[in-house]
This record gives sequence, structure tokens and C-alpha cells, in this order.
Amino acid sequence: MEIKIQKTTAPKAKPADETKLGFGHIFTDHMFVMNYDAGQGWHDARIIPYGEISLSPAAMCLHYGQEIFEGLKAYRTADGSVQMFRPDENFKRMNVSAERMVIPQIDEEFVLGALKQLVEMEKDWVPHTDGASLYIRPFIFATDPYVGVKPADHYLFMIILSPSGAYYSTGLNPVKIYVEEKYVRAVRGGTGFAKTAANYAISLKGQDEAHNQDYEQVLWLDGVEQKYIEEVGSMNIFFVIDGEVITPQLTGSVLPGITRKSSIELCKKWGMKVTERRITIQEVAEAYDAGKLDEVFGTGTAAVISPVGHLKWGDKIMTINDNKIGAVSQKLYDTMTGIQYGKLPDEFGWIFKI
Ligand code: COI
Repeated sequence: MEIKIQKTTAPKAKPADETKLGFGHIFTDHMFVMNYDAGQGWHDARIIPYGEISLSPAAMCLHYGQEIFEGLKAYRTADGSVQMFRPDENFKRMNVSAERMVIPQIDEEFVLGALKQLVEMEKDWVPHTDGASLYIRPFIFATDPYVGVKPADHYLFMIILSPSGAYYSTGLNPVKIYVEEKYVRAVRGGTGFAKTAANYAISLKGQDEAHNQDYEQVLWLDGVEQKYIEEVGSMNIFFVIDGEVITPQLTGSVLPGITRKSSIELCKKWGMKVTERRITIQEVAEAYDAGKLDEVFGTGTAAVISPVGHLKWGDKIMTINDNKIGAVSQKLYDTMTGIQYGKLPDEFGWIFKI
């Protein structure tokens, strides 16, 4: 499929101070759009000026949330070039999410090529500052003007780009996490593994209550027994207990994170014992009491590697590693960002150059 290009006639000024980008507030000059109509498939691929879109008030995505998305980043290297980290994995996961949400499959190779073309056009927007990057948000949503509940016949696929800094305002400083016991994020047979808006909407109430208690994020427990640890919503979670790296296994209600998968691969390469299994919050608390909970950290595209300094479970407040970043978290952060920003060799073939 050909990609039509319409360039903006009114390019915006680039952010003057890259240390104050924040996360996800600023958008570049262009975006990628493609339509789907039943019987016709995906068509009309185009890169057009970034701007508002017109949608029927009856558009099905607004009523029943038939939507999926992805998150990845483009990084500026020391020689000025631009590269992405495992973008093929994002489009592969997008098709898994699409299948669950009854959204038509995309041609992964085609959209990767379209993304490459878009980032190439917008490469001057990729920040030059360490720790900042161009956040990439591909998404698909149902557009049929219809208020009945059914899988839609019409969709838009879009990619927008946002020069961004750290996701958490604390940067690499440890975050405070609150173990949620009242609400659940995902249930057996639900959509927990898919990257769909509903999983984020359902998390807002818990997050809001955590914020009111001065905690940044919520650690979700399983939706059946509320015993087993799942994920943080904005990131997957890892525990280092007595030298062993443990992360909840992918049971269907946890997002299969690409940074999660890459962290497991790195730790294994370093000869560490890494286990994907079910782990209860009780076990974590017992390890803490026994002085064996060495580190807790989250992994995600937006969050990168995010150390957890405090974990609150009911009345119990666990202060982890003296509220300091631990050795495994630091090594993972340095290696992951080293590969992403081209400072370390790409031994795994994870880098996609623009
Ligand atoms: C990402 O890490 O890219 C995500 O999509 C998570 C979102 C909370 C920003």
C-alpha cells in the first residue's frame, strides 16, 4: 500500500528546554493515519499534519471502548542518529490485543515501515537530552456511528509522536507503591494481557485513592483471590529475594511487557537466577521481615526501570533497600538505556535504526 504524504505548512517550534518536557504533553507536526472498512480492509495510509480528527458522537469507541494501543520510543544516539527499541515486538503484541478486542489484524511489516517513515520525517523532534526520547503511540479505535454493542466495521489506525522526559516525576528515584486490596485490574478470561483502554480506565479509581495517600502507583493483585501479585498497570513488577530475580508469570491477566521480557533476557545472560512464577504479597512481606527482600523494581517502556522504595500493604509499610536504587535495578537501567541510546553494543539485535 502506498503512503500519501501531506506536509504541514505551519511547523511548530520545537521545545526550547528539553529538561522540562514532562511526559506526553507535546506532539510533533505530523501523524500517521489509515482507515479500515469491512469488505475493503486497511486502506488510505497517509502521513498528514498533526491535528484534530472529526468523529461521530455515536462512534462506537466512545461508548464501548473498542480500542487498543501501543507505546514505544525513538532515541537519539551520540552521533545524532535515531533508533527504536524492538518496535517489531510492539506490532506483534498489537495484533494479539486486536485479536482479543475483535479488531482487524494489521500488517506488522507495513506499519513498521510506516512508523519508520513517520519518525524519519519527524527526526528533528527526537530530543538530544539524556533520558528524554520521542514517545510513540500507535492506536486503533472503532469509528462506526452506532450505539448497539457489536464489533465495529470501521476503524482508524493512527500513530502520534510526543517528545517526552521521564514518566514518573521522580525520575530514577524510587517510587512509592500501594498494594490494592479493594479494587481489581483484571480477571481470569478478561483483557489483562491486552493493551486496551479498558485496563487503564479500570485502574483509575485505585490510582486516585493511592494518590490521596501520597503513593504514586498501585500494585494490582489477582482478581480471584487477591493474593497473587500481577503488575502495576503502568509497568510490570520484579522482586529480588535472596539474590533471585522473581516476576509474576504471564497468566493472561498481566501485560506481556517488552521491557519485562528484555530485563529477563539480560538477567539470564548475566547468569542470575530468574524465575517467572506466581508470587503472593504474603511471600514478599515474609521475605521483607526475614531481611531477604533485596530490591523491588518496575519495568515498562514509559517507566524504563523504576525502583520501588516503599510498598504499602494494609498497615504494613515496607521500605526497600533503604529507599535507594538497588544493584540489579541500576545495572538493568544502565544496560537497557545504554543499548537504547546506542552507548552499548546491541548484542541481542534489539535496535532498529531509522
Ligand atoms: C508504556 O509504557 O508505553 C505504556 O503504554 C504505559 C502507559 C501507562 C504510559
